[in-house]
Amino acid sequence: MSKPQKEQLGSWPIGDTKDYTFIETGCNKGHTVSKASMVFPVCHSIELNDKFFKFCRDRFREHPRITVHHGRSEKILPELVDQVTGPICFWLDAHGAPGAPCGGHVPLISELETAIGHGHDRDVIAIDDTRCFGRDARDQMGDNWLEITMDKVEGLLSDGGFGNIQHWPAKVGSCWHRSGVMVAKR
Ligand SMILES: C[S@@+](CC[C@H](N)C(=O)[O-])C[C@H]1O[C@@H](n2cnc3c(N)ncnc32)[C@H](O)[C@@H]1O
Repeated sequence: MSKPQKEQLGSWPIGDTKDYTFIETGCNKGHTVSKASMVFPVCHSIELNDKFFKFCRDRFREHPRITVHHGRSEKILPELVDQVTGPICFWLDAHGAPGAPCGGHVPLISELETAIGHGHDRDVIAIDDTRCFGRDARDQMGDNWLEITMDKVEGLLSDGGFGNIQHWPAKVGSCWHRSGVMVAKR
């Protein structure tokens, strides 16, 4: 995977998405899964917070491509992954947000282990908000990222066969992510 050029960043970092399943952790108001459904035929998103889950369940009730799941990603992600035989594009974004504190725990490491374990050679793992790695943000949105460092995440990905890692402080999908996104492929 070559270094992405700015003009290429309006599309997801996958060539042909037609046999992919998109799985997001942390649905919130559904902005990213809504964009993802324009290119991925099957989309799942997992949301812990009752209010945001109900909002997204109602928002996507009639949507032919999007299913929203209620609960912790640590529990639901392995169940979903077990059911998918084709390639998955993971968008890992479960953590505290305004109106949705997560009690300090960021489930990224558990999610990463599950994603790596899926084992399809075309799986893609995208992680949002890498700016938070290694930080204690408990005074902001309730998150403790101290144990989640860039070294640890890159090490897990590399050891899991995802040695092709890009960092995109730019546009992915049709959302601008000033927050830092990393995308890993095998
Ligand atoms: C930053 S927001 C997600 C934004 C969304 N992915 C987007 O791009 O529009 C993070 C969401 O993760 C949810 N969350 C936090 N911990 C979670 C967990 N363990 N499992 C599932 N969702 C979680 C929060 O309730 C919050 O709504």
